[in-house]
Amino acid sequence: MNKLFITLLICIAVICTQATNVINVAIWNNGTDVNIGTMDITAGVYAQMEITLTGFVYQPSILQSSTYNYVTNQLSLYALNLQKEPFLFIIDTNTWSILSKTPLYEEFQYGGLASTNTQQNNLFTTCSVGGYIYPSTIDPNTNAISKLDTVLGSYRGSVYLPKIESYLVLFKNQTGLFGKVYSETSSVVSEINFHFSGNPYPVNDAPLNLVYDSTNRNVLAQVYMTDSNGRPSYALAHLVWTPGYVPAALHLSRMTGYTGDIFLTTVLNNQRQQYAYSFADSFGQTTLYTFSTYTNNFVTFRPIFTKVLSAF
Ligand SMILES: *[C@@H]1O[C@H](CO)[C@@H](O)[C@H](O)[C@H]1NC(C)=O
Ligand SMILES: *[C@@H]1O[C@H](CO)[C@@H](O)[C@H](O)[C@H]1NC(C)=O
Repeated sequence: MNKLFITLLICIAVICTQATNVINVAIWNNGTDVNIGTMDITAGVYAQMEITLTGFVYQPSILQSSTYNYVTNQLSLYALNLQKEPFLFIIDTNTWSILSKTPLYEEFQYGGLASTNTQQNNLFTTCSVGGYIYPSTIDPNTNAISKLDTVLGSYRGSVYLPKIESYLVLFKNQTGLFGKVYSETSSVVSEINFHFSGNPYPVNDAPLNLVYDSTNRNVLAQVYMTDSNGRPSYALAHLVWTPGYVPAALHLSRMTGYTGDIFLTTVLNNQRQQYAYSFADSFGQTTLYTFSTYTNNFVTFRPIFTKVLSAF
């Protein structure tokens, strides 16, 4: 190959891998209201507000209390009012209007929302109370929650797996970290004992904020470790599958944050480019990391001015 040809190849490679601007839906709290809007995740420093839920608060990211349906562009989220009463909101992000607002039983903590990305907006969710979790489905017509199972343990994350049309819920009990896979028709598809691999530091028992990466058809988890100086260290991990499409382990990648940064939420590039973006709390400021899911490496990071708690 001559030099010109190589240069040409490099130019093509650069053009192909350059990220185009991507607009994502984002959720944040502003102290009095839940704010929902859009953010250019590749270049923006602020999110633009489109709709507010006045007098409501969005719960911490680790509960995974929202999900986005990429087919209908509907955002489903739980929020608490000033009396801490939980509600399920379904929002149309084409028109930025509230399609429904459903009051829920107060005794539960609600999270783990996962859209199946169907026209009907079928949803999975996990409710928790008194040391038990209840993986459940939500009826798209009535918004009624029906429990699929009762599990003694603490919620550690959940995600919808389109390939097997099932919902994976991770939980911690006195024996360890486990996952259960559910289909919409209630049966437990499988039950797995999870472990971590490739972790540079000890992994803390903490929620894992699972997210589905449709480009690479895999699941990413946010793993909280403590480094040798006793400081928080976060990294993204991949779900590793065993034959028969059974998830088995969470393998730590080189997609790592800087020491002390607490990952809040991770969103995959929705234009089918191989990037993942993690919002982090960096000593009170918000930082947005860009990772390559192609090379599994850190790409860049920058400060942003909206403390985004979930994004899609
Ligand atoms: C939150 O946003 C709403 C809508 O823009 C605004 O009315 C309200 O004053 C804001 N609250 C605070 C504390 O900034
Ligand atoms: C933890 O959950 C696993 C999977 O369901 C189960 O086999 C194990 O007995 C549980 N441990 C305790 C202490 O309940």
